[in-house]
Amino acid sequence: MSKRIGILTSGGDCAGLNAAIRAVVHRAALLGWETVGILNGTAGLLKDPPGCRVLDPNEFNGNVMRMGGTILGTTNKGNPFAFPMADGSSKDLSGKIVEGFKALKLDAVIGIGGDGSFAILKKLADQGKINMVGIPKTIDNDLGMTESSVGFDTAVAVATEALDRLQPTAASHDRVMILEVMGRDAGHIALSAGIAGGADIILIPEVKYSLDKIAAKIKRVKETGRNFALMIVSEAVKTPEGEKSMMTYHGGEERYGGIGHYLGTKLAEMTGSETRVTILGHVQRGSSPTYNDRLLASAFGVKAVDLIKEGKYDRMVAWQNRQVVDVAIEDAIKAYQVVDLKGTLVQTARALGISLGDE
Ligand code: F6P
Repeated sequence: MSKRIGILTSGGDCAGLNAAIRAVVHRAALLGWETVGILNGTAGLLKDPPGCRVLDPNEFNGNVMRMGGTILGTTNKGNPFAFPMADGSSKDLSGKIVEGFKALKLDAVIGIGGDGSFAILKKLADQGKINMVGIPKTIDNDLGMTESSVGFDTAVAVATEALDRLQPTAASHDRVMILEVMGRDAGHIALSAGIAGGADIILIPEVKYSLDKIAAKIKRVKETGRNFALMIVSEAVKTPEGEKSMMTYHGGEERYGGIGHYLGTKLAEMTGSETRVTILGHVQRGSSPTYNDRLLASAFGVKAVDLIKEGKYDRMVAWQNRQVVDVAIEDAIKAYQVVDLKGTLVQTARALGISLGDE
């Protein structure tokens, strides 16, 4: 039976979203279904008529899979259950969003999001009795029940390349180079890129560091005759006093940022080394996806459509033991995934003599 399905991207963008959209559109078209793209996440459903367009499979034959960002647009602001209004108050707009879904006359919707987006989408789906399937995406890789989410591999590749580019300039100037990366409250990007990019020091929010231990590591590196050191730090690492480093943007939005500069100043004073700091920021989200992200996005897109075909809803597709599987969305949201301190990557870093700032 022919179906009309919707698809939306929600939360921060990342590489691989377009590859996932393409997979959904192609798989649905092979089944004889129509795919409707909802524009700008749930914000598109607040519009009257809802912001959407039918996605023509022919549009996806060329360049779209290679492109960063999301052709549908997205938003990571404004929880519809407490939507910020212009006068400073907040209002529950969930009913209006559900109405928008209904107006599109969809048999089911595929939401591509991270933990925050899924918490909202699931609540909306429950409220409006909407058939929903989720595809996990986040450069932070902090969503539970899946070993990887779309966008993480590309973010790690970009951060690794940044270390590759910092190493020769560090060596040319006898400097300590600090690279601050994203990841919110989980240190996955810093840990993976730090190992792959040859960092001497990796700081992640999950490990409490001491400035003395880091300074001692820099000294040890110099004693081996090497004239430079590389350090990578997750944006959510706190100061030794337990303070978060935040940046406030226009409108009062707060985001992590700046711990690299704090550490750079302290360590320069303590070690006498010339120190420079790079905040990698949104560069980690903007690139063409790696082949791994394209594969993951393709497998996820196909599986998401096939779940709708089987009538299995309230599920998130996931990657486990080299297989694409499906899990309850609720379980994925609950199982927030920070770095496992007993896991292989932490053990590997330590076994290589990389300092995590605690020894
Ligand atoms: O969750 C993805 C992420 O890129 C985080 O790593 C980062 O802290 C945050 O989003 C940045 O948000 P924004 O795009 O609103 O600046």
